[in-house]
Amino acid sequence: MNHAQTLLHILSSNRDRHQSGQQLADEMGVSRTAVWKAMETLRNQGHVIEGIPNRGYRLLTSTLLYSKERLQTLLPSWELHLFDSIDSTNRYAKTLKSRKALALACHQSEGRGRLSRSFYSPQGGLYLSLLFPAVFPLSDASLITSAAAVAVSEAIEEMCGKYCQIKWVNDLFYQNRKVCGILTEGVLGVESGRLTAVVVGIGLNLFTKREAFEDSLKTIATSLYDGEESLPSGFSVDALIASMVKKLEDSLATLSDRTFLSAYRDRSLVIGHEVRVHAGSEEYMARAIAIDDEAHLVVENEHGERKVLSSGEVSIHLEV
Ligand code: BTN
Repeated sequence: MNHAQTLLHILSSNRDRHQSGQQLADEMGVSRTAVWKAMETLRNQGHVIEGIPNRGYRLLTSTLLYSKERLQTLLPSWELHLFDSIDSTNRYAKTLKSRKALALACHQSEGRGRLSRSFYSPQGGLYLSLLFPAVFPLSDASLITSAAAVAVSEAIEEMCGKYCQIKWVNDLFYQNRKVCGILTEGVLGVESGRLTAVVVGIGLNLFTKREAFEDSLKTIATSLYDGEESLPSGFSVDALIASMVKKLEDSLATLSDRTFLSAYRDRSLVIGHEVRVHAGSEEYMARAIAIDDEAHLVVENEHGERKVLSSGEVSIHLEV
């Protein structure tokens, strides 16, 4: 453990009291300057540490909401990699050679989104990547993301009692704002030309405070709960994660049956609505008509011409 991790461990085990800089330095066996630097590192990662003159320091955000032991019990066949903070769980998961692995973090410094965008990943979110070293035909790649959107929505409904809709192709919306993004990345076998592994990355705003969102996101993103203090008592993040993982695992085992598609269609936020289609450099208004059996979006433009979208994205005007 580096100094920041050691400090985080000490602070999170002593949430109910303040500790002075000197006490922390003594406990860590380092200088006060080293404590101060570690504190800065944690604050830059998004941890909120209260500092009161003559009393000391106390961690205000929860970082250890999940426990490796509990998760391992719930997911015995999964190899777990847990981090307080990491650059990107997807990047990390792609480096693993193991059979089935789950990388999980409370904060990402370089979260990755679709279409080469970044994914803002402050404290309060769940950032996880599942590595499935399975053999899927390349053509199934878009089905995997859609199956994941259903699995995550159903887990949220079951464990949090909150209903999310899916904005084609991979965004989960709660009360008309984005609450979760999913990025599936493949590892391609050079000789086989098939996907030898897939990494499904899920970024869920679980209890991100409204004010923690960047200005550009404040009106379009939301969180299931507004702050850790709003989580229902007895809420188990481990149970939520385990539910997502199990549902996705089950769904991928029967991917070719496409059984998840009816739930995907039921939860669609766009079917029957006017949408703006962004397909490469092209942009046009259309009506979203259907989701076909490949989880592609069928749209009809103003001339009554139908198009099947396999990639790109659509935007929709929503009242909030
Ligand atoms: C999107 O909305 O564009 C997809 C966002 C996917 C974000 C998740 S967070 C966990 C995993 N690690 C990453 O770097 N990205 C995915």
